[in-house]
Amino acid sequence: MKNVFTGGLLLPALASAACISSGDQNTINSAFQSGGQNAVVQLCPNALIQITDIVKFTADGQELSTQGYPTDSSRATIQVAVGSGASTLISARDLNNIRIKNIQLEGNRQNAGFLSGGDANIIVGGVTSGGQVISNVASRNPRSWSCLHVIGSGQDNNPCRNVTLTNNDIGPCGQSGTDPASGDGLWADGISLDCTASLVQGNTITGSTDGGIVVFGSPGSTVTGNTVKSSSQYLGFGAINLVDDEYDGSYAGVTVTNNNIIGDKLFNIGIGVGANVWSFNDPSALSGPVTITGNTISGQVSFPIAVNGWTNGITVTGNTVSGVTSPKSSFADASQCSQAIQSVFNSNANLIYYPAGISGSQNLQSGFVATPGNATNFLCSSLPLPNSVTFQPGQLTVVSDSGPFATLHNVIAQYQGDNNLVVLQAGSPVWASGHTLPNGGNCGSPSGCQLKFGSDGNFASFFNGVQQWSTNTSGSGKSLVVLNQAPWIQVKDGSGNVIWDTTKNQ
Ligand SMILES: *[C@@H]1O[C@H](CO)[C@@H](O)[C@H](O)[C@H]1NC(C)=O
Ligand SMILES: *[C@@H]1O[C@H](CO)[C@@H](O)[C@H](O)[C@H]1NC(C)=O
Ligand SMILES: *[C@@H]1O[C@H](CO)[C@@H](O)[C@H](O)[C@H]1NC(C)=O
Repeated sequence: MKNVFTGGLLLPALASAACISSGDQNTINSAFQSGGQNAVVQLCPNALIQITDIVKFTADGQELSTQGYPTDSSRATIQVAVGSGASTLISARDLNNIRIKNIQLEGNRQNAGFLSGGDANIIVGGVTSGGQVISNVASRNPRSWSCLHVIGSGQDNNPCRNVTLTNNDIGPCGQSGTDPASGDGLWADGISLDCTASLVQGNTITGSTDGGIVVFGSPGSTVTGNTVKSSSQYLGFGAINLVDDEYDGSYAGVTVTNNNIIGDKLFNIGIGVGANVWSFNDPSALSGPVTITGNTISGQVSFPIAVNGWTNGITVTGNTVSGVTSPKSSFADASQCSQAIQSVFNSNANLIYYPAGISGSQNLQSGFVATPGNATNFLCSSLPLPNSVTFQPGQLTVVSDSGPFATLHNVIAQYQGDNNLVVLQAGSPVWASGHTLPNGGNCGSPSGCQLKFGSDGNFASFFNGVQQWSTNTSGSGKSLVVLNQAPWIQVKDGSGNVIWDTTKNQ
């Protein structure tokens, strides 16, 4: 080990070496460049380094850490500067035996904003023969999709291997929803692992909004003793995911043991296993053998363990789900889910599988409940949904095909790409404005159609600025109400009298 500031000649102990107390990414990057292989670059305790670009490891065996290896808030912080185009704080991919230890990484999404096209806070892995260690690192508020990405090598015959992630404190990562401006998801993973024979142990992930620990195949990897807790504010999709089809869908030798999963506001899925569990369907079943034992799942989790789309070996034993909140309707809503999923939600099942969706050897603990039919997309549950939503004049403006503008218990209202405004109950249309564009026209892309409850109190649709349909309530409309029962949509005046509803159309 060589220390870049002392040359390692006279001062033998790291503790007495100089540390970086100020500067930016260039300060750290020049230390790596001049130090070369095995350079140890240390930040001073409590240092705050603002960056406008990536901190980049440059050679095998390099280390970035806080001097003295504290584990508390005195760990040095690297932070994305507001106004900069930076999102990734540290990249150490394609190198061997690098170490990132005892520092804090602040992606600063709350001040610098979500960055469309950005990347994970930390990127390691890649073309590496291994020995990478990330420990006692805090990573939070990424401007993009993940707090920590162990990236695959992209080479089937030379996969990423042996990355160790231990005792890190991760999160919050992302927030729920979609950025209306870019259409990009605002969610982010805690740890995204795409690397074989790796270890994810003793990490605490709090407030991931996409997957807490997402295992992309990664044959031979171990996920053990981690705590994954959902946000107290936002929906989290899944705590531990085995749902993606990297490595040709192989999870051979993956073990997920003794993890503690806690749904605070809401996790849709505790441990998701298989090709047909997430919002997409992989082209074929994912394969084991995989072992999922000794995990504890508690709190507000809609589907604690769900399995569909697996082959070649699965063991799910000794997991504890007795602490999952019941009934599920007290914290979540599954009215937008398929009938098969609503059935297991309504019966408060915690261990769920689709028997025809598993082939090969299987050892499932007692208490597994079969879904009545091929239940796919367990991400369908949501925070409890209201029975109505009210908009004030000027509060609602949507373009066509932008998703439902009202999502209610069992009902959605949406504005289609043909200018038709429709209300669906349990997936079936119950009312439509009927004013599609003439000659089977559609709104085009980008859409020329707009639906709004204008500041004048009129609820109207427009194509290229020309009004197509309206409730004729300009001047008198003071609120727009969307309901999950007939008459579905109402416009009210200032005294609360209904001056238009769907029975007055056509
Ligand atoms: C994996 O990496 C760890 C940490 O650097 C090292 O101790 C271990 O020997 C490596 N294992 C293999 C099989 O290379
Ligand atoms: C379940 O449905 C998914 C999506 O359509 C499909 O890919 C999968 O093969 C189905 N599973 C079975 C066992 O039919
Ligand atoms: C609004 O007024 C126009 C013109 O009087 C009429 O053609 C249309 O049907 C009315 N729309 C509704 C929703 O009542």
